Amino acid sequence: MNQKIILESAYQLLEDAIIWNKGEPTGTVAALDKSLSAQNYSECFIRDFFPSALVFLMDGRTDIVRNFLTIVLSLRFQQKKMEGHDLAVGLMPASFSISKDEDGKEHVQADFGDRAIGRVAPVDSAMWWLILLRCYTIISGDVKLSHSDDFQHGIRQIMSLYLQESFEVSPAMLVPDGCCMIDRRMGVSGHPLEIQSLLYGMLLTAQELLIPNEINKSLLSIIKKRTQTLRSYIRLYYWLDIQSLNEIHRYKSEEFGWEAVNVLNINPEIIPNWIDGFLPEGTGFLVGNVGPGKIDFRYFAMGNLLAILFGLATDDQASKIMRLYEIHWDQLIGQMPVKIVYPAVTGKEWTFMTGSDPKNVAWSYHNGGNWPSLLWVFAGAALRSGRKDLATKALKLSLDRLHKDSWPEYYDGKAGSLIGRRSNANQTWTATSAIIASRLIDDPDSLTVFDTLIF
Ligand code: GLC
Repeated sequence: MNQKIILESAYQLLEDAIIWNKGEPTGTVAALDKSLSAQNYSECFIRDFFPSALVFLMDGRTDIVRNFLTIVLSLRFQQKKMEGHDLAVGLMPASFSISKDEDGKEHVQADFGDRAIGRVAPVDSAMWWLILLRCYTIISGDVKLSHSDDFQHGIRQIMSLYLQESFEVSPAMLVPDGCCMIDRRMGVSGHPLEIQSLLYGMLLTAQELLIPNEINKSLLSIIKKRTQTLRSYIRLYYWLDIQSLNEIHRYKSEEFGWEAVNVLNINPEIIPNWIDGFLPEGTGFLVGNVGPGKIDFRYFAMGNLLAILFGLATDDQASKIMRLYEIHWDQLIGQMPVKIVYPAVTGKEWTFMTGSDPKNVAWSYHNGGNWPSLLWVFAGAALRSGRKDLATKALKLSLDRLHKDSWPEYYDGKAGSLIGRRSNANQTWTATSAIIASRLIDDPDSLTVFDTLIF
């Protein structure tokens, strides 16, 4: 089908997904499916709104993004205090909804994971919010918003939560399972790459948006230091190529003291069989998670692609990750871009890791499903590393099918050839991702918005 007609249908979906507060457009629902697979898909998710916002910014509709940024900042105070605890005011909700009471009065209600499945804390929300604030500021030229007392105060509160001391043994951030795009148990607790990439983008953003005055001075110098240590740590400890794999394969364990080489005490036996032969010379990727005695070797798309986009990966690492996509196209893209994680976990490992989650069975949903909502970040990362050819190939592969299948949330199967068993139709970020990818490829004007993601 004609690309123009397909994109018109994606735009129509985005338009219908807009939610209104006091007559002002303020966000977009996650999905517009009448038979939603979960109630909260009719809410505006902070992370799902990010690609909606990029489209609005490309089209000069900065007011919607401004309304969203303002409302989400204020929603932090809707958190419920747990007995014996204080509010974590730097935490932002996973989602919010707007409803009308009998008198027609509108109410905005935030969800901090307390109404969602599994009660997960949305660690990534404030990260997406802050990074979006930078995009908005650059595109609209409205510096006043981020420099206002409310926003400066809010950014400081966020930073104080995200930089507070806890039980860290490394510069990477320690978080619970299900705290990001993968918002159910999937063995991502610890130091997942996606959170580290977002943290990196967030720290760089804060350095630009906090006014360099007396109040912010010491915070800014801490942020600068933390950015540097995080970057060096990820580039070294998360990077896997045939050389580092060889080193791990020959690691000695049980080393004590400052001279230890295998500082995390990794036993080579944890190297999974599938890795052998997966990393030809000239390829590599950032592993999913690193911790004491632990490397999660799975390939997580969002974390790797954001690391490329934000410059957390070096240029050389970025081109090796894109080369990996080229070589393993069938596994990492298959028939629908982009596989969320490779490979899937099965058998006993699945039982223990997911808690026997039937939605996350092998090669479905978060456990190796294919998510078209990752297309925008794939296209962005490909363009940043000079691989427009791969972005174009991925887009070509998906457009017709996404439209024909009514913009599904995700696809199932090793090759991603089946519509997700419990997938919604009319998923907003599926449509917005397709719009962004095609605009980035075909419309040079849209690159000004893309540039706001580059640091
Ligand atoms: C699922 C996804 C999550 C997304 C939400 C709304 O829970 O895992 O990342 O934000 O749906 O689309």
